[in-house]
Amino acid sequence: MNSFDLNSSTAAGQLSKLAAKLKPQSIRSMFQSDPDRVVRFSVELGDLYFDNSKQHIDQEVLKSLIDLAKEAGVSEALKAQFSGEKINVTENRSVLHMALRAGRNEHFSVDGENVMPQVYEVLDQMETFTKKVLSGELKSFSGMQFTDVVNIGIGGSDLGPAMVAKALESHAGGLKAHFVSNVDGADLASVLKVVPAATTLFIIVSKTFTTQETLANALAARAWFKGKANDDEAVSKHFIAVSTNSKAVAEFGIAPTQTFGFWEWVGGRYSLWSAVGLSIALSSGWQNFRALLDGAKAMDVHVQVAPFDENIPVLSALTGIWNRNFLNYSSVGVIPYSQELSRFSAYLQQADMESNGKYVGRDGKKVSHSTGPVIWGEPGTNGQHAFFQLLHQGTDVIPVDFIGFVKPTSQFTDHHTKLMANCFAQAEALMNGKSRAEVDQQLEKNGISDENRIKIAPFKVFEGNRPSSMLLFKELNAFNLGMLIALYEHKIFVQGVIWNVFSYDQWGVELGKELASRILPVLEQKTKGQFDDSTQALIDRFLELN
Ligand code: F6P
Repeated sequence: MNSFDLNSSTAAGQLSKLAAKLKPQSIRSMFQSDPDRVVRFSVELGDLYFDNSKQHIDQEVLKSLIDLAKEAGVSEALKAQFSGEKINVTENRSVLHMALRAGRNEHFSVDGENVMPQVYEVLDQMETFTKKVLSGELKSFSGMQFTDVVNIGIGGSDLGPAMVAKALESHAGGLKAHFVSNVDGADLASVLKVVPAATTLFIIVSKTFTTQETLANALAARAWFKGKANDDEAVSKHFIAVSTNSKAVAEFGIAPTQTFGFWEWVGGRYSLWSAVGLSIALSSGWQNFRALLDGAKAMDVHVQVAPFDENIPVLSALTGIWNRNFLNYSSVGVIPYSQELSRFSAYLQQADMESNGKYVGRDGKKVSHSTGPVIWGEPGTNGQHAFFQLLHQGTDVIPVDFIGFVKPTSQFTDHHTKLMANCFAQAEALMNGKSRAEVDQQLEKNGISDENRIKIAPFKVFEGNRPSSMLLFKELNAFNLGMLIALYEHKIFVQGVIWNVFSYDQWGVELGKELASRILPVLEQKTKGQFDDSTQALIDRFLELN
């Protein structure tokens, strides 16, 4: 992949001028000057309606953003990725999570070899296993049907599956899924308190099978289970592994027959489509897992074939670049109006921030522009009663992605209508705000005295002009969820291309791990080490009070 310098690009020069020109104009006024704005800035794909009209953009901005994408070589980069080129340069790897959701007869190659037969070998293994467990053909050591599954993993080996399993809870019918990730023993303890040992399956998920947190939790879970079952054969029946490192899995004591593989060309945070998603299949059933893959595939096709002005991941990426680099907004709120998507923002934090939170460019030099924003969020309406105050009246403008579904998933259908009324209203309020004249008028109507009105009115004004996008699906189902996740995956990659960073490595997580492995033996009082004064003081205090 070529190096690209955003700041010296022709399109960026044009976009900077447009930003200065557009800043004084309100988004609200752009609706008045362009009656076709909604149609112009929205795209439909299957069950998804993507409305970008509440962003602070106009036609000229959009055109220049598309020029920017062309100048940065977004099409070529997508082609390179899909063709299996080793675009993860610093790890010398292809990036082909799209192969995991492709059809059996498609062709994705790594080093000249078609990977689809391997993909389907594992998918078939997963399907058979899932069906045998869910039908009761494969029984627990107690002779009973499995009831619970505990996924032990962290980062990409936890966040994706945990988010999806929760999102598809109402479609479930399979095993009850639990997730243990933190090396804080409280996490494992709380799950072991509620699962019945006799009917619980443990899946140890780790791409590398060297991750400290996962191995600590896996060993402790196995010891706990052994204590309950008192039988080695039972342990081997109840513990399975998902990893690219079959050697380490075998050393841990899990047999190859109990191991599901995947490959180096699947990044951890892009791996829920592989055997890493086994807990999803076991909790929501094979049909739903397959539908999830199919939904993602629909987005893979879309991102490759749709022209940029109708390409949802590209439009979303370009809007993010506009907000980050030309309007200088440094964070993005992602607010699903869906309790089932309550883990979505946490999942997206890793997907986005571990991918594009980088200051070293593809040429190995420090970039001269801002890269990935802070991603954060909580579901609506809860967020409204917490941080929305800042979104509406804080000193920073924070663009928001709203995610909603037309159909309810619970029997409380009137709740859902209220939920969506809130979702639409928040986006409207952020954009339109409330002027001083509107506030005065309302206060007068409510019979507030002039003296009080003058005192209180300034606090009730909302300046508005706060941008958002709306991703509105017909319903929350596995297919649509697959589309949604793949949309963000492609968005992240497109942004990485324009920011000139390698989105698929994560060297920034290494230093902390290294230093923890120096501090650990000191806390265990096996060694002494040399640390800065502050770290030493913390270690001393820990040892003294422990
Ligand atoms: O913390 C970094 C990281 O490498 C993530 O990228 C990854 O998803 C996570 O750790 C877990 O890694 P593994 O699946 O190898 O245990």
